[in-house]
Amino acid sequence: MRGKSIEILRDAMRGDYAVGAFNTSNMELTQAIVRAAKQEGPCIVQATTNGFKYGNSQVMGRLVKNIIEFESESAKIGFHLDHGKSFDDIVSAIDAGVDSVMIDASLMSFEDNIKVTKQIVEYAHKNGVTVQAELGAVPYLGREDQEIDWDSVMTNPVQAKELVEKTGIDALAVGIGNAHGFFKERDVPDWERLEEIRRLLPETPLIMHGASDWGDVNVKKAIEGGVCCFNIDTDIRVAFLSTICHETGNGCNVTDPRKLLGLARDKVQSVVQGKIRMFSGK
Ligand code: G3H
Ligand code: 13P
Ligand code: ZN
Repeated sequence: MRGKSIEILRDAMRGDYAVGAFNTSNMELTQAIVRAAKQEGPCIVQATTNGFKYGNSQVMGRLVKNIIEFESESAKIGFHLDHGKSFDDIVSAIDAGVDSVMIDASLMSFEDNIKVTKQIVEYAHKNGVTVQAELGAVPYLGREDQEIDWDSVMTNPVQAKELVEKTGIDALAVGIGNAHGFFKERDVPDWERLEEIRRLLPETPLIMHGASDWGDVNVKKAIEGGVCCFNIDTDIRVAFLSTICHETGNGCNVTDPRKLLGLARDKVQSVVQGKIRMFSGK
């Protein structure tokens, strides 16, 4: 492995910039992300539990670690489980070689979120792995009613402090009006809420999920407000699939999958490079 997610996050915090955490589920996506990092600077490669299961978690773990090992050169790259939902998800991702996990108990009651997250922290820390938790919920495209009651889903700053203190988590995913996918976000992110979270938790890396549709103005404001990592999945999926659809649009007479997958990989690499540059302020 070339780097640890937590060091990458702390370096970004100290340097007043941010990094991207990019989702993968196959070889081409992983190579695209790692090659982008080699060109532009540090990042985190992450897979959800669904991503790990898609390719078999041991196979995915080795695939990602090998690509980092053989293609990243000196770039610092972390390997993270995104949106783990259960103890089994966490154990399986740690066995597969991640250096950092997310336990997403954000849909549970506050008390249960604390209880579950604390158990995960104990297990993960014993294994040298750091933990991100989520408080408040980041809505999902297609999984929510169209109207979101933002006040009820955004992160409560006082509870965020309590969650960090009672569980010992290393990083926190925050909700300030952000949403997964190209889902309607809050008209204006709740910057005051972010400021209050940062004031109460000056040492905790803050993670922004659902960042695919965040442009440079909001990214800059979020970094000023203390966010040091943006999660990107949808933009990667769109870059990959739109390339394939474009190439096959008029009927597919390609007989070599590598031709299509290679083009899609290149497109994802250029999207990820652009994101890394935007987050790092280059
Ligand atoms: O935030 C998580 C993803 O965008 C959803 O990922 O389809 O791999 O579970 P998944
Ligand atoms: P997007 O799908 O909106 O990029 O969000 C990704 C994410 O939050 C992964 O955890
Ligand atoms: Zn997410």
